[in-house]
Amino acid sequence: RQALKARAAELLRQHNAVLVAHYYVDGDLQDLALETGGIVSDSLEMARFGRDHAAQTLVVAGVRFMGESAKILSPEKRVLMPDLDATCSLDLGCPADEFAAFCNAHPDRQVVVYANTSAAVKARADWMVTSSCALEIVADLHAKGQKILWAPDRHLGRYIQEQTGADMLMWNGACIVHDEFKGLELDLLLEQHPGAMVLVHPESPKSVVDKADVVGSTSALIKAVVEGTAQEYIVATDNGILHRMRQLAPGKTLIEAPTAGNSATCKSCAHCPWMAMNGLQNLVDCLEQGLGEIHIEEAIRVEALGCIDRMLDFTA
Ligand code: 13P
Ligand code: SF4
Repeated sequence: RQALKARAAELLRQHNAVLVAHYYVDGDLQDLALETGGIVSDSLEMARFGRDHAAQTLVVAGVRFMGESAKILSPEKRVLMPDLDATCSLDLGCPADEFAAFCNAHPDRQVVVYANTSAAVKARADWMVTSSCALEIVADLHAKGQKILWAPDRHLGRYIQEQTGADMLMWNGACIVHDEFKGLELDLLLEQHPGAMVLVHPESPKSVVDKADVVGSTSALIKAVVEGTAQEYIVATDNGILHRMRQLAPGKTLIEAPTAGNSATCKSCAHCPWMAMNGLQNLVDCLEQGLGEIHIEEAIRVEALGCIDRMLDFTA
C-alpha cells in the first residue's frame, strides 16, 4: 500500500498532475490528494479547484459527473479518472433525451439540475447546483418570481421546496445510498444516544432529514462535526466521509446512521459502489497508461458550460 501510494505520488509529479478527490473515496486516496497538493472536498469545491489549478492533468477520484464537470470547465486540460465506469444512480436515472422532453413540455420554467447528471443533461439546463448552493440559488430564483423545473434528486428537491416555498416541478430520481437511511431506526438510535447531533445529507428521505440538527453538503457536515459542541454525531451520508471527519475531529464519537440493512452486519450499506471503484491501483494504472480519459463532444461541452459558470459566479 505504501509502495503504491509512493508510486502514485511520483506519477502525479512526473505528469504535472493534481489529484482531486471526493470525501467518499478510499481514505488512502484522500490522504494522497492532500499530501501531493491536491484537494479532498465536496463536488462544488472539486469543480472550482480543478478549474483554477495550473496542472496540465487533473485526476478526478470520484464519480463520472465530477470528471465531466472538470473537463467542461477546463477543456485544455487532460482529465483522467481511475475508473470511467464509476457513475451515479442519479445520473443513470436521468437520460438526456427523456429529460429534454420533460423540459420541452415546460418552457416557462427555469431548468435547475443537480451536479450529479451527465454533460448532455447539463447542456439542457439553465443552472447547475450542488448540495452546498442549491438552497440559495433556488431561493434567489424564487424571489425573482421564477418557476423551476428540478432534476433529478427528488429528496433534495423536496427539501429545497419546503425550505424556499418555490414552485418546483420535479424529476423522480434518487441516490441509492442515501435513499436507504431510515427515520424509524434513527429514532431508536437516538433513544440510545440522546445527546448526539444528527448530521444529514439532503439526498436522504424526509423522515431522516426531519430529525437532523444539520442538513448540508459533505463539506457542511464535516464543518458541523469540527465546530459542534456535542460529543457524539450520527452521520447520515456515505461512510467514506468518516475518514476525514476522524482526522479533523479526533476526539469526537461518530456513529453511522441506520440503513435498511442491519447496519451492525451490513457495513457497506452506506457506501456508494461507484465511489468505491476508485483505488490506489487503478489510479496508478490510469496515470501510467493514460487510461480513463474524459472526452466530451465540444458542442455539448460549450452548452453545458453555461449552467456551471452561472453557479460558480453565483457562489464566488
Ligand atoms: P456533495 O456535493 O455534498 O459532496 O455531494 C455529492 C454526492 O454525490 C453526494 O452523494
Ligand atoms: Fe451518486 Fe449517491 Fe453515489 Fe453520490 S453517493 S455518487 S449521489 S449514487
